[in-house]
Amino acid sequence: MNKIIAVALIAVFICSCSAVDSKEQSKSNWKPEMDQPSELASIMRSLNDEALIRKKSLENGELSQANSKLIFKMITAEPTEPHMVGPAFAPHTEAFIASYGQLNTATDVAAQIDAHNNLVKSCVACHMNFCQGPIPRIEKLYVNI
Ligand code: HEC
Repeated sequence: MNKIIAVALIAVFICSCSAVDSKEQSKSNWKPEMDQPSELASIMRSLNDEALIRKKSLENGELSQANSKLIFKMITAEPTEPHMVGPAFAPHTEAFIASYGQLNTATDVAAQIDAHNNLVKSCVACHMNFCQGPIPRIEKLYVNI
């Protein structure tokens, strides 16, 4: 059991889609990519931070504004490895952008919690296809009220 948790934590910390590849490389070549995140990875980190802040404010009963421009850069942003994006990436991004827009149509906290949780679902949906490492971390963004 502990081992499973440790493996999950490692996967989250190295954020790692690339961890899959690194198994094939010799250990001496492997470098954590935390210092220089790809353009896409830095967008993801900001979106994750933003969602965490929104979760806190919703849990405090406050609506929050969602006006990130980064969501429009996702389609063209460079990933760490080219295989991290593929033909299904654009449709997932579009679904994500549509869910994001719903955040601002919410006029009360309950409606924004729904919109927020739907957005988190669309994060997870894309991650199931392209980058499973961060999923446990993303699932912590759900607001359970
Ligand atoms: C359209 C697909 C897609 C959507 C939607 C998406 N992601 Fe990602 N995410 C990726 C890919 C691909 C990577 C790997 C990027 C890389 O390493 O260059 C990634 C990486 C990440 C990472 C790891 C970043 C790092 O430090 O290396 C986190 C955390 C993350 N996403 C969180 C989220 C959250 C939170 C959402 C929703 C608000 C989200 N993602 C929506 C595809 C997506």
